[in-house]
Amino acid sequence: MPDDNKQPSPAAAILHNPRRLEGMVAIVTGGSRGIGEAIVRAFVHHGVVVVVADIDDAGGQALAAVLGPHV
Ligand SMILES: NC(=O)c1ccc[n+]([C@@H]2O[C@H](COP(=O)([O-])OP(=O)(O)OC[C@H]3O[C@@H](n4cnc5c(N)ncnc54)[C@H](O)[C@@H]3O)[C@@H](O)[C@H]2O)c1
Repeated sequence: MPDDNKQPSPAAAILHNPRRLEGMVAIVTGGSRGIGEAIVRAFVHHGVVVVVADIDDAGGQALAAVLGPHV
């Protein structure tokens, strides 16, 4: 029989509340491309304001233009 009083895991809680990280600020080095870009996108999805720190300035600016005012 399932335990209805079981608390969701922290990961499940974030998945069910996509704005849980609202109000936080993150700096993502290497955030213009690849794994860093994926992290930037995930943080923005969860309401984080993200600073992209990358030697590829044009790539970072392009990503910021796509993702909007949170970057
Ligand atoms: N892709 C994988 O499967 C994988 C697996 C294990 C480890 N890694 C490691 O994870 C890191 C990221 O991998 P990736 O595939 O996303 O790489 P990537 O080359 O796609 O992206 C790296 C980003 O870091 C930026 N960068 C490079 N030097 C920098 C510096 N000095 N300061 C700021 N930004 C800088 C680049 O401009 C680029 O935007 C690498 O160190 C890689 O070796 C990757």
